Amino acid sequence: MPNYLVVSTSGNPDSNSRRMGQAAFDCLKKAKVNCEWLDISRLDLPLCDADACYNDPSTKNLTAAIKKADGVMIATPVYNYDVSAAAKNMLELTGSAWEDKIVAFLCAAGGMSSYMSVMSFANSLMLDFRCLIIPRFVYATGDSFDDDKLTDTKIFKRIGQVAAELVRVTNGVRSK
Ligand SMILES: Cc1cc2nc3c(=O)[nH]c(=O)nc-3n(C[C@H](O)[C@H](O)[C@H](O)COP(=O)(O)O)c2cc1C
Repeated sequence: MPNYLVVSTSGNPDSNSRRMGQAAFDCLKKAKVNCEWLDISRLDLPLCDADACYNDPSTKNLTAAIKKADGVMIATPVYNYDVSAAAKNMLELTGSAWEDKIVAFLCAAGGMSSYMSVMSFANSLMLDFRCLIIPRFVYATGDSFDDDKLTDTKIFKRIGQVAAELVRVTNGVRSK
């Protein structure tokens, strides 16, 4: 049976992308698949220095969690028309652990115009590590949240669709 990982890459304690990740994690648990949750703000990861960082115990734990997963859902803030630096650092630290993963994205942004912001990160996953990217992202702005709650039913529905699509594609690929 395939394994799934939902990883939150925001450092903000009041993060909307983390809320989206938790909603996706709940969907995957309801679907009764093997699924783990990781919040990289809790891992005390080093910055990638292409040297000693790879021997750090936190890096090793993160690498092991990614290697174990077949399908990964990345929840990320949009910062400067890109994913968070923390998401990029995660990829730099773990590199080839991403080979052949099926990857889906959940993005929290401030405005509607940054909806293509995950593309350079997704390109790197595709071209460097032959990941398959689910071509349907969830993109939400602050309007979808009321204080600490995700209240937008359309975004909830879309998170469910993307989680289901991640499972469908991962099952299809892994059964071959
Ligand atoms: C440094 C920084 C850069 C940002 N850049 C963008 C941006 O390029 N486009 C955008 O729509 N929102 C931008 N925002 C707004 C964030 O995407 C928004 O606050 C989002 O909720 C962050 O995700 P999080 O709540 O999971 O941390 C930026 C916020 C910060 C702090």
